[in-house]
Amino acid sequence: MIDILDRVRNKGLQAKIVTAEEAAAFIQPGMNVATSGFTASAYPKAVPIALAERMKKDPFTINLWTGASTGPELDDVLAGVHGIKQRLPYQTDKVLRNEINDGSVNYLDLHLSESAQLSRCGYLGHIDVAIVEACAIDEDGNIIPTTSLGNAASYVQSADIVIVEVNTSQPLELEGMHDVYIPLDPPHRLPIPIVKASDRVGTPYIPCTPEKIKFIVPCDIPDHTRPLRAIDEGSKKMSEFTLEFLQKEIQAGRMPENLLPLQSGVGNVANAVLAGFVDSDLKDLTVYTEVIQDGMLDLIDAGKLNFASGTAFSPSPEGMERFYKDVAKYKKYLLLRPEEISNSPEVVHRLGVIAMNTAIECDIYGNVNSTHITGTKMMNGIGGSGDFARNAFLTIFYTPSTAKDGKISSIVPFCSHIDHTEHDVDIIITEQGIADLRGKAPKERALEIINNCAHPDYRPLLLDYFHRADEQTKHANTPHILDEAFSFHERFLKTGTMQK
Ligand code: COA
Repeated sequence: MIDILDRVRNKGLQAKIVTAEEAAAFIQPGMNVATSGFTASAYPKAVPIALAERMKKDPFTINLWTGASTGPELDDVLAGVHGIKQRLPYQTDKVLRNEINDGSVNYLDLHLSESAQLSRCGYLGHIDVAIVEACAIDEDGNIIPTTSLGNAASYVQSADIVIVEVNTSQPLELEGMHDVYIPLDPPHRLPIPIVKASDRVGTPYIPCTPEKIKFIVPCDIPDHTRPLRAIDEGSKKMSEFTLEFLQKEIQAGRMPENLLPLQSGVGNVANAVLAGFVDSDLKDLTVYTEVIQDGMLDLIDAGKLNFASGTAFSPSPEGMERFYKDVAKYKKYLLLRPEEISNSPEVVHRLGVIAMNTAIECDIYGNVNSTHITGTKMMNGIGGSGDFARNAFLTIFYTPSTAKDGKISSIVPFCSHIDHTEHDVDIIITEQGIADLRGKAPKERALEIINNCAHPDYRPLLLDYFHRADEQTKHANTPHILDEAFSFHERFLKTGTMQK
């Protein structure tokens, strides 16, 4: 109790400290509940667990808006009791994914940079309750965030009332690691004054008043971060191709020696690619990204990273332990911003970011599917990949050339769902090689992608499709045989493999 009182620095607010059950009792069926949290970092835990217990006895649903994916103590517990009716803007939870794909949850898969604005403009209804994890609350009622910012600041601003979970497992040294800037909405919006990754343009806290805070709930449950898969040979290869390519860009005078600010996506492949940078000759790197994973800590330890700006600190459990042991050191290199700033098209474009994200599948003309398995089943969501892909100086997509033990080719005639069009994709990299699509017409791109990136088992099938499509369309700009464009997917659904 002493710890929590120390962390609630406004003495008047200490009277609002209640149990998770008391706070959860305030939440009513059908409410729009908006929370902090981005990846398994800084999401509320105690109140959702208490809410799920209540829903178990007396079933009802809420609409849940977060920053992105969260940890099991939020998405998993609420999905586990069928307590979510609508969910936005991104998720990675298995139980929730199943409910999205069986039709019981309405999922709004949004560009993350736009999700706060969308919640502010009100056509989804207003936010009844914001539940936000905090390190501490200052004398004026402002909220000191923890390991991510996500949409927390905007949600606090828009919500009718705020429940703050003060998490005593989060070190107080996190204070000062945040830069909170909430843009005005049009027609009053001003340029975001960030010209380099380390620029601070806002406040180190989420602005709030004591009156707006309804309850304060103590919590000591740590972030449930996920282990990363060991780096496999394929990912190592993709990292090598990336480094070779970037070295050539430097030699050609298209990039400075320390590159441009890097953005690296979520997941195993993205983290593995970044790990390769540690052993390279590159130095004085900067990062302007969404999620800060283990690879960035490795770069800091190797003395290669000058600064990393993101919205979430989301390492593996080992990475988290490393960070907590030396917060003071890492804090000098890291800054967390709201996701509408970390992913801002305006800033990404100004800084000239190198965007590196992972695809589920790419087609022979360079369209990318980041979200849907065989065009229908939601995997995770678009996340920030569209924010970066469209606006970056250089946009790279990665995918292993096959999935599911070779039964699926990640290079297909036509993507079964398109998140990033051919216009936004500069480079595709698989463990087979690299396709540089810049300055190439569709048919040139097709040959580059099939010959360099497709798995040799699928190359003949793809070349056969491409050449027949070219013949049949009498050499059209983007040849397709419409009856066969999804034949790889259809074959997989009928026979369990895309191979003939
Ligand atoms: N068909 C069917 N399944 C496929 C597939 C395909 N074409 N490609 C990949 N998969 C499956 C894999 O087999 C794996 O399944 P498993 O979990 O059962 O093993 C799963 O998808 C994840 O693939 P993996 O190779 O481990 O990649 P990852 O962890 O790097 O995730 C994405 C890849 C695309 C799912 C992930 O990066 C994502 O959700 N991206 C969209 C959001 C985004 O880019 N955010 C970053 C912006 S900052």
